[in-house]
Amino acid sequence: MTPRSLLLAAAAAISLLAGPAFADTVKVGVIGPFSGPFGLFGKNFKQGIEAFQAKNGKAVKGHEVEFVYRDLEGVDPAKAKALAQELIVKERVQYLAGAYFTPDALAIATVLDQGKVPFVVLNAATSVITEKSPLIARTSFTMWQNTVPAAQVALEKGVKKVVIAVSDYGPGLDAEAAFKKTFEAGGGQVVDAIRMPIRTTDFGPIMGRVKETGADAVFAFLPSGPPTLAFVKAFIDNGLKAANVKLITTGDVTAENDLPAIGDAALGIISTYHYAVSHDSAANRDFLAAMKGVGAKDGEIVMASVAAYDGARMIYRMIEATDGKQEPQKAIDAIKGFAWESPRGPVSIDPKTRHIRQNVYERVVDKKDGILINREVKTFADQPDTGLSPTP
Ligand code: PHB
Repeated sequence: MTPRSLLLAAAAAISLLAGPAFADTVKVGVIGPFSGPFGLFGKNFKQGIEAFQAKNGKAVKGHEVEFVYRDLEGVDPAKAKALAQELIVKERVQYLAGAYFTPDALAIATVLDQGKVPFVVLNAATSVITEKSPLIARTSFTMWQNTVPAAQVALEKGVKKVVIAVSDYGPGLDAEAAFKKTFEAGGGQVVDAIRMPIRTTDFGPIMGRVKETGADAVFAFLPSGPPTLAFVKAFIDNGLKAANVKLITTGDVTAENDLPAIGDAALGIISTYHYAVSHDSAANRDFLAAMKGVGAKDGEIVMASVAAYDGARMIYRMIEATDGKQEPQKAIDAIKGFAWESPRGPVSIDPKTRHIRQNVYERVVDKKDGILINREVKTFADQPDTGLSPTP
């Protein structure tokens, strides 16, 4: 060995003896669909977190932050609860995050107070979730938040008669209530309200029922994934688009990953949502570059990654405020009123509901450089979750 290689070997041995550079490790358990038909959304959770860590480092005030992932393929509240318990008891996580589906978020909510673990919801969108524990915060959206603007857009476009079609579970029922209340208050008429079993993939009969009503628009919500693609295709294939019936939805139904499979027939579909991949801002360009840096591919980036990216920011703030200690109430207090520039636009955490306030955008499916996008055409600024407000 040369003197120089001896020196290098000695330095390497010393650094090994010194151990890791961090005081300790704060663990965060993330529960989401990392496999199965909704696997793209779990992948977006993970890549959003990795993109945040790539930009902001893997430690807060000397505490290493380690994310531990658990796969929950679909709606399975019993498994969601078991995974949350396992993460708290065996992995000793100080924070939980994730939950694609509402029933799973509600099951996780039941173990938080005893486990003394704050939970950042990264997708599930039924308003009531954050009321289930004072330790829950949410960086995604609620159905009320995105649907009230959808009904306003329908009224502005002169739509008179609407059929509402929603998946028959929490977020679908919220969407139905929000649309009906807003649309009828503005003078519109809901001619039919169809609740579709969550596992239905055959929408032909529903399209037949819509035709019979003579409605001029359909408002729809289904959980983003294979059901939404099947619904939009059935709408087109059954001739409703050709018959000039409008399709107005929340952005769940026109997620960017589905647009290529729908093809040009998607052009003109109107939706309201808090994030479009095409959102024009420096923060979004930065975010998309960070996502590409951790392996995300064009056409596979959807809203769930932004919720995770912002969720990681909130968790970092809670770790900073508690200096890595398990003080759940102090952690939650530190994010009340927290405001920042998200890739979706300016956001803040409502101190009362612990839910995110954000812009909601009217978008239309359009083409840019040959690629189908949701083009933002109007902003409903700083929307709260009206689902939690007392009915006026
Ligand atoms: C939900 O279960 O709350 C949920 C799932 C998927 C969505 C929206 C809401 O796209």
